[in-house]
Amino acid sequence: MSQFLPEFLQSYIPNTIQLVYLVATGFFIVGIKRLGSPATARNGNQLASFGMLLGVIITLFDQEIVSFEFIIAGVVIGSLLGAIAAKKVQMTAMPEMVAVFNGFGGGASALVAWGEFTRFAPDLFDTQSLVTTGLSILIGSITFTGSFVAFGKLKGFINGGRIALPGQNYINLTLSFAALILVGWFAYDPGSEIIFWSLFALALIIGLFTVLPIGGADMPVVISLLNSYSGIAASMAGFVLGNNLLIISGALVGAAGLILTNIMCKAMNRTLASVLFSSFGGDSAGAVADTGDRSVQQTTADDVAIQCSYAKKVVIAPGYGLAVAQAQHVLKEVASLLEDKGVTVKYGIHPVAGRMPGHMNVLLAEADVPYDQLYDMDQINPEFSSTDVVLIIGANDVVNPAAKTTVGSPIYGMPILNVDEAKRTIVFKRSMSPGYAGIDNDLFYDDKNQMFFGDAKKSLQELAAAIKELD
Ligand code: TAP
Repeated sequence: MSQFLPEFLQSYIPNTIQLVYLVATGFFIVGIKRLGSPATARNGNQLASFGMLLGVIITLFDQEIVSFEFIIAGVVIGSLLGAIAAKKVQMTAMPEMVAVFNGFGGGASALVAWGEFTRFAPDLFDTQSLVTTGLSILIGSITFTGSFVAFGKLKGFINGGRIALPGQNYINLTLSFAALILVGWFAYDPGSEIIFWSLFALALIIGLFTVLPIGGADMPVVISLLNSYSGIAASMAGFVLGNNLLIISGALVGAAGLILTNIMCKAMNRTLASVLFSSFGGDSAGAVADTGDRSVQQTTADDVAIQCSYAKKVVIAPGYGLAVAQAQHVLKEVASLLEDKGVTVKYGIHPVAGRMPGHMNVLLAEADVPYDQLYDMDQINPEFSSTDVVLIIGANDVVNPAAKTTVGSPIYGMPILNVDEAKRTIVFKRSMSPGYAGIDNDLFYDDKNQMFFGDAKKSLQELAAAIKELD
């Protein structure tokens, strides 16, 4: 596109391109910063998208990379698919969508490196370019197959449990080591087609072998890790192309994915090694907790309505079941009805409630719950002792006292919402089935606790009707 500019401007193009890349990077960084709070997240997303648009437009002037017809075709097709996905995909299916995006991101980086390598004679590549080409192909291909396996597991196309060969961890370690040797060999002998294709094939196999053994329930952590891989692969492709924007934005995604993986592991009291090398949780659907001969108190909508209406402070602790039931709108209605009666209502948000980071925040934002009613775990925990009623909606592990009391429990050490300190807890769920960690919850048998069995949406609708009847 630069040929359309007057000649005297052409000499400024290379520097201008680099400068605009830098500005676009600035938009990414500020955008990510603003994603940190629900109040500024929408604006953060817009800023980062604008940075991306700037990057794409300025690349049209960088004739060295690709002809602009392809870029425009890419922008149109990508924007269309992105817009359709954003409108159609359910909030509960977000991890699957991110998995697909990661897979395409990794695959694209591998293809870009391959394309760039085949565009020039191998001997025109210096050692750094050869090593980064090899790494881009390796990490990008692992991300590609790994992400699509993760997608298949989450969607139920592939068995969600552990699928592994005997000694799988050792096989994976050996294959990874062999792949690194192949990257070195490729850099030493770039003309050898057999090395090049062996590297590609081995990387695709490693992606399959790494994710197949991981339990479906650990998939969100793995997806976050694969997100980081896709960023690293993009950064490597940036080195191959000599494109600063790609190097920096890839590094940002790589670092953000790693930080998120670390936060998720910490909040679940797991190590990354235990996620990658041993399965945990699994598909809890249909599992039944071992309740022994203990009994629980059951309650009704009318009873809950009375307890909440005469309370001073009610805290809502939402969890994965709220998302499954899509009960966020009726939950907001219940909260508003209580507020109309002078009750103080707050929401206590556990960092890993649901199945993806920020799941509850996004869900409640969808129902226009004001941000200032959402309290992080550390903010809400000191308030439970002065709370009259806690409504636990589709949450289980994040309120399970076993995390504090039962050494050896899979969730032991995980910080939880200390709902047991409140005067009354009421759990909304369909049965005594366990949650993600697959373990029973002592809170359900507590004298101060009552169970309101049923689908969360239906139960909350009944509760809203019962509160209205009290007027
Ligand atoms: P869970 O412990 O998984 O419990 C969810 C509960 O929701 C289940 O016990 C289920 O009981 C209930 N439920 C399901 N559908 C329902 C419906 N339609 N109506 C009412 N209840 C319903 O959820 P949590 O407390 O949010 O904890 C999250 C867990 O996921 C943690 O263990 C966390 O470590 C893990 N995890 C989280 C993340 C992130 S980043 N958020 C990532 C990976 C793993 P019934 O079947 O009896 O209804």
